[in-house]
Amino acid sequence: MATLILIVDDNKITRNIVSSAFVSDGYELFIAENGKEALEIASRVQLNLAILDIGLPDIDGYQICKTMRSDPRLANIPIIMLTGYTDIDNRLKAFAAGADDYIMKPFQMEELRARVKVHLLRAASSPPHPKTKARTHRIAVFSLRGGIGVSTLAVNLAVGLAQLWEPPTLLADLAFVNGQDALMLDVKLRNTWADLGKIPPEEIDSELIERVALRHASGVDVLAAPRRSEESELIKERHVRRVIELAATQYKYLVMDLPHDFSPTTLAALEMADVILLLCAPDLASVRCASNALNLFKDLGYPDEKIQLILNWNISANGLARKEIEKVLQKSLTVVIPHLPDSLVMAITMGKPIILDVEKPEAALLEDLSYFWSKKEDKNIEPVAPTPAWQRVSERAKRRQQEQNKS
Ligand SMILES: Nc1ncnc2c1ncn2[C@@H]1O[C@H](COP(=O)(O)OP(=O)(O)OP(=O)(O)O)[C@@H](O)[C@H]1O
Ligand SMILES: [Mg+2]
Repeated sequence: MATLILIVDDNKITRNIVSSAFVSDGYELFIAENGKEALEIASRVQLNLAILDIGLPDIDGYQICKTMRSDPRLANIPIIMLTGYTDIDNRLKAFAAGADDYIMKPFQMEELRARVKVHLLRAASSPPHPKTKARTHRIAVFSLRGGIGVSTLAVNLAVGLAQLWEPPTLLADLAFVNGQDALMLDVKLRNTWADLGKIPPEEIDSELIERVALRHASGVDVLAAPRRSEESELIKERHVRRVIELAATQYKYLVMDLPHDFSPTTLAALEMADVILLLCAPDLASVRCASNALNLFKDLGYPDEKIQLILNWNISANGLARKEIEKVLQKSLTVVIPHLPDSLVMAITMGKPIILDVEKPEAALLEDLSYFWSKKEDKNIEPVAPTPAWQRVSERAKRRQQEQNKS
């Protein structure tokens, strides 16, 4: 397989010197003149190494480096800074941003060659960056009562996050007995969790997860529930733990669609989640189920802020009032999802999540919610190359702000 190297420099002469030497070494090269181009290439191509200039017309080399390090898919790519800045402060700044090496201009091509070789060798023989492990944001969607919209929210949220932040999002359908996420996304059931359940957990690796996951055009990878319910017995708690841990090296977001039970696999997922979206519908049975779940979470010692209570108005008839639900559960609702029109509910059943119907107000709501449930690091910085979904969310937020200022 070819070795792919990115060279970023606004100076044509440097670009030419470096690229002509590396082409003759047999590397496949990608050349960028500015930061925006560099990040675009990095997100599109599976690079083996990047050589970055620091002073660039738009985004500087430090920022490119930081952005790459914060994206689990790019975090392990060796980065060499090649720059005219020679003072110690700049060198330290480069390492602080996550650079692996620093070469000052004017430089000897032989030295750059040697360092590139060393970094490529080291990257090929080292395990994934441990720092990337903690970065996946794990969201569990749960309810003890069935049929109230857990899968609908999980599927739309996974699509929403993938569309907002681009890198693939993993949707794990942990409802092994009857999960329908693959159907809701209309992806062919080529592989399922049963393929993972058949092998010892310690033999599962990131590559296998990628092979078993079904890819949806929106950028969501789905680990689908088994075809036959009896296959669910193959999947043990250790498989689930292993997959959740490994997902951290490939995915920025993991959305877990959970069954309505406290089985060992469900409990493992709930424990490992960063946030639990506990769904409740406006009826008494559902509120009781939410209350049971909250009590168990308390017994398990989950911090209160890990759990968000969501009221899903899955019925069109009158239901319990928000205040009553909050009083019984002694917890505020984070979000109320309104009743969705039948035509849109049908869309889910037909394999096209509502959120992809971007013209519809319901899609806008789900997109805004996906942003709301995005991790802080993502929300804190304006993306270099914002996705259309991000732009829509940001436009709506601006409009809301303007309206608020008027009134
Ligand atoms: N806000 C809503 N408005 C109208 N219908 C809804 C809403 N939320 C969910 N539904 C509908 O409720 C039904 C059940 O939803 P879904 O399959 O997502 O629930 P679940 O909790 O995952 O159920 P299961 O027990 O089958 O896993 C679906 O037909 C879905 O379209
Ligand atoms: Mg479901």
